[in-house]
Amino acid sequence: MQDSVRKAVIPAAGLGTRFLPATKSIPKEMLPLVDKPIIQYGVEEIVGSGIPEVVIVTGRGKSPMEDHFDVSFELEHVLRTRQKTELLALAEHAAHLARISYVRQKEARGLGHAVLCAKQLVGHEPFAVLLPDDVVQADEPCLKQLLNVYEQHHACVLALMEVPQDRISAYGVVAGEALGNGLYRITDLVEKPKAADAPSNLAIIGRYILTPEIFASLEQTGPGAIGEIQLTDGIRHLLRTQPVYGLRFEGTRYDAGDKLGFLQANIAFALRRPEFAGPLKEFLRGLELGA
Ligand code: UTP
Repeated sequence: MQDSVRKAVIPAAGLGTRFLPATKSIPKEMLPLVDKPIIQYGVEEIVGSGIPEVVIVTGRGKSPMEDHFDVSFELEHVLRTRQKTELLALAEHAAHLARISYVRQKEARGLGHAVLCAKQLVGHEPFAVLLPDDVVQADEPCLKQLLNVYEQHHACVLALMEVPQDRISAYGVVAGEALGNGLYRITDLVEKPKAADAPSNLAIIGRYILTPEIFASLEQTGPGAIGEIQLTDGIRHLLRTQPVYGLRFEGTRYDAGDKLGFLQANIAFALRRPEFAGPLKEFLRGLELGA
């Protein structure tokens, strides 16, 4: 069996209801963080982690994503003729980032179902999953940090983040045994527990390395409470037969699929850009923010 991780799946077929009305006709994955669509950060993280192949799970109304990662002859021709070399490089970059395949999820039946849609394109090999609206700012790409663990243990690895108790019920939460250096051997997972029932303060965020047995687990996992097939339920099923690890990764995660998280991510990413950092800080200071 192929043992190294060569493919990453990006589920991007969700309806983006938390971001209405912006997402009524624009995929949320195409909303810009500073000057790039959210999904491009995800593809860049995958490539920057050494994974060459990307499978994007799309749905109706999501074709702007495919256009974004394709060649745009007219635009490139105009920029070339006008000798706008820097802009041309930006436009061309997205089309040559990675080898991307697409598969449709015909109905938004949950994250687990979206991953299952990629089964044929992934085949029987370990793979990564990256949720594009979880954007991570980190010195070493978050997915690469998970791959380092995978290379040691050859088992599923989930990215974990500490979350305050009043926010924990919005996440999938793990119970686990600490192994040191932020690594945990996971013993249980609960999707969106009540704060009082949460087994820890460690939430799963949108980065995973999964073994191909997850597909059989998802096929056996019925729809959960809101009629969706949950990825956490599939991983929980897998726990019966395989070890699953969690890594408290180094870095900061922003939920760019949420309005406030999106604003925070835009500010944080813009502050890292030399051309914006100075003027943006000056602007923020000038707002005379209250306490
Ligand atoms: P989210 O729950 O953040 O996305 O799923 P959503 O369902 O689009 O958003 P809201 O809650 O309605 O605002 C995480 C990722 O999984 C994908 C989404 O596109 C997102 O990237 N997803 C979710 C699918 O591909 N299919 C689904 O059925 C559900």
